[in-house]
This record gives sequence, structure tokens and C-alpha cells, in this order.
Amino acid sequence: MKKTVLCAVTAALALGLCFTGTSMAKKVDKGAADLTLESTIDPAKKAKPAIFPHAKHQETLACGDCHHSVDADGKKVDYVDGQKIEKCESCHNKAAGMPKKLTTFKEAAHANCKACHKATDKKLGTPKEKSMAKCTVCHPKKK
Ligand code: HEC
Ligand code: HEC
Ligand code: HEC
Ligand code: HEC
Repeated sequence: MKKTVLCAVTAALALGLCFTGTSMAKKVDKGAADLTLESTIDPAKKAKPAIFPHAKHQETLACGDCHHSVDADGKKVDYVDGQKIEKCESCHNKAAGMPKKLTTFKEAAHANCKACHKATDKKLGTPKEKSMAKCTVCHPKKK
């Protein structure tokens, strides 16, 4: 009997320690399962929203394959759990002094999304007509 009580107390203590000692390990906000991406700063003449199954990508990829932040000198900082997640175009916009080909949401997204889809095609030997880098994979035709 005494042993059980002791065990229960020990377990409770251990749990308590887990919660207080590792507040950094609190649940990370994974964002919406599905997103529709669209620039709000410099939309194209014909808006071209992109569909993005966020949760599906999280199953196989690391958050840091897409998310990162920036330091005071404007240098990219690798993703860490619990960091603030900002919209891509809060940094990738024309006023932010980003390097070439990263100055808009479209460019940053293509450099991230499209590049990986292209690389995946290559890795899997996907034929062109089934390519994951086709425009319509991310920009489905309006019905
Ligand atoms: C394949 C790329 C990719 C991966 C992997 C990814 N994200 Fe995202 N995530 C995005 C994009 C793109 C957005 C939308 C950003 C924007 O609107 O500019 C986003 C948005 C978010 C948001 C903002 C809330 C929302 O729903 O809009 C959170 C929070 C977030 N992601 C957390 C995570 C976490 C945590 C992981 C890892 C478990 C992760 N993401 C993995 C691309 C990714
Ligand atoms: C807090 C600012 C910030 C946010 C938010 C941000 N980026 Fe970046 N990103 C940077 C900086 C800084 C660089 C490095 C630019 C350079 O090379 O000088 C960078 C580089 C990149 C690169 C080039 C490859 C690399 O990893 O260096 C890609 C692609 C990219 N970002 C895509 C994205 C996407 C997609 C999102 C949204 C999911 C995003 N970025 C959100 C600041 C940001
Ligand atoms: C590092 C690699 C990588 C990045 C970055 C990435 N993807 Fe993907 N994406 C994949 C892979 C692999 C699949 C196939 C996953 C599956 O079917 O389980 C996929 C599937 C998809 C699909 C579904 C296609 C279908 O046939 O259902 C869409 C839409 C998509 N991605 C859009 C995006 C967008 C938009 C971004 C950028 C915000 C992005 N992806 C970034 C690797 C990536
Ligand atoms: C793997 C996903 C993916 C593929 C493939 C892709 N794009 Fe995109 N594209 C995006 C994302 C994400 C954005 C940024 C969000 C937005 O503006 O739609 C974007 C933005 C754009 C924009 C700016 C739209 C606007 O409203 O500001 C244009 C134009 C565009 N893409 C054209 C194309 C064309 C043309 C192709 C084929 C040659 C293509 N994209 C292939 C994901 C993709």
C-alpha cells in the first residue's frame, strides 16, 4: 500500500517536473492543416492563389524545411521549435532588401515549393506529364 502511494507521489512529482522544467517543450502550434496562399502586398494582375496541404507536408518534412527567422543583421536564422512564425512576405517583400529571386512571396515560394517539387520529380523519375512542378498542382484552374 505504502509503496503504491510512494509511486504515485513520485510519478506526480516527475510529471510536475516535466511541466515546469521543460516549458520550452510545450506544444508547438502547427498552424492550419490546409492553407490557401495569396500575396496581400503585390498580387499579380490576375491573382493566382496556391493551395497548400500544410499538415500533409508536416508528416514528411521538418518545420525548418520551410520556416526560418532573421537576426538583427538581417541574416537568416534556422528554425527552432516555438519561434514566432511570420508570413513569408513579411520578410520577402520588395522593401526588405532581400537578395534577387527572393523579393516577393511568389519568388520565395517558388524557390522553396517549386524547387523541392522539381527535385522530387528528379528523385522519383516522374515523367513530365505527371510532374509535381506543374503550375496546376499548386494553382488549380478555377472551376
Ligand atoms: C513545406 C513547407 C512547410 C512546412 C514543412 C511547414 N510549414 Fe508551416 N507554413 C508554411 C507556409 C507556406 C505557411 C503560410 C505562410 C504565409 O502565409 O506566408 C505556414 C504557416 C504556418 C503557421 C502560421 C499559422 C497558419 O496556419 O497560417 C504556423 C503556426 C506554422 N506554419 C507552423 C509550422 C510547424 C510547427 C511546422 C512543423 C511541424 C510547419 N509549419 C511545417 C509552410 C510550411
Ligand atoms: C523573418 C523573416 C523571414 C521570414 C518570415 C521568411 N524568410 Fe525566407 N529568408 C529570410 C532571410 C533573411 C533569408 C536569407 C536571404 C539571403 O540569402 O540573404 C531567407 C531565405 C529564404 C530562401 C532561400 C534559401 C535559403 O534557405 O536560404 C527561401 C527559398 C525562403 N527564404 C523562403 C521562405 C518561405 C517560403 C517563407 C515562409 C514559409 C519564408 N522564407 C519566411 C527571411 C525570412
Ligand atoms: C522539401 C520538399 C517540399 C516542399 C518545400 C514543398 N513541397 Fe509540396 N509536396 C512535396 C511532396 C514530396 C509531395 C507529395 C506528398 C504526398 O503526396 O504525400 C507534395 C505535395 C504537394 C501538393 C499536393 C499534390 C497532390 O497531388 O495532391 C501540393 C498542392 C503542394 N505539395 C504544394 C506545395 C506548396 C504550395 C509548397 C510551398 C508553400 C510546397 N508544396 C512545398 C514536397 C514539398
Ligand atoms: C509547388 C507549388 C507551386 C508551383 C508548382 C507553382 N507555383 Fe506559382 N506560386 C506558388 C505559391 C505558394 C505562390 C505564392 C502565393 C500566391 O501568390 O499565390 C505562388 C505565386 C505565383 C504567382 C503570383 C500570384 C499572385 O497572385 O500574386 C504567379 C503569377 C505564379 N505563382 C505563377 C506560376 C506559374 C506560371 C507556374 C508554373 C510554371 C507556377 N506558378 C508553379 C506555388 C507554386
